[in-house]
Amino acid sequence: MKFEYTISKMNFSTAGEASSNIKKTLKLLGIDSQKIRRASIAAYEAEINIAIHSNGGKIILVIDKDHLDLIAEDCGPGIANIDDAMKVGYSTATHEIREMGFGAGMGLPNIKKCSDKFQIESELGEFTRLTVTIYL
Ligand SMILES: Nc1ncnc2c1ncn2[C@@H]1O[C@H](COP(=O)(O)OP(=O)(O)OP(=O)(O)O)[C@@H](O)[C@H]1O
Ligand SMILES: [Mg+2]
Repeated sequence: MKFEYTISKMNFSTAGEASSNIKKTLKLLGIDSQKIRRASIAAYEAEINIAIHSNGGKIILVIDKDHLDLIAEDCGPGIANIDDAMKVGYSTATHEIREMGFGAGMGLPNIKKCSDKFQIESELGEFTRLTVTIYL
């Protein structure tokens, strides 16, 4: 099964909708609540990152027999240094974004923590793609 959710850039009135719909879908499918919790956190952080740091993108939810995948991909600007971006506390968020409560530099480490398998790929000026796998 495959579901796709679009995320637009800097739209704070719709930010959080994709992850909340992902949560609903997983509940309807009767997935274990701890797995839903981890998937929802990962989806939320990935969604906010796309809204805040990218030019827009999407999250694809794929559900298989024994695992689910969340694929979050956007259309740039990409991440210059992935090792830095993965560090707790590292953030390029602007003052305005920080005033809205984002920019602690916790999102990516949190996504990794919620994942059984985690992959991050990025090409500067092109895209960022996260692949999160949670075993069911
Ligand atoms: N989709 C993305 N596109 C471009 N840069 C990104 C993307 N996601 C993350 N980054 C970069 O990686 C940094 C770290 O991301 P992370 O989610 O850990 O922290 P944050 O978004 O800055 O703060 P928080 O998630 O705690 O609100 C960001 O500040 C940004 O520089
Ligand atoms: Mg973040």
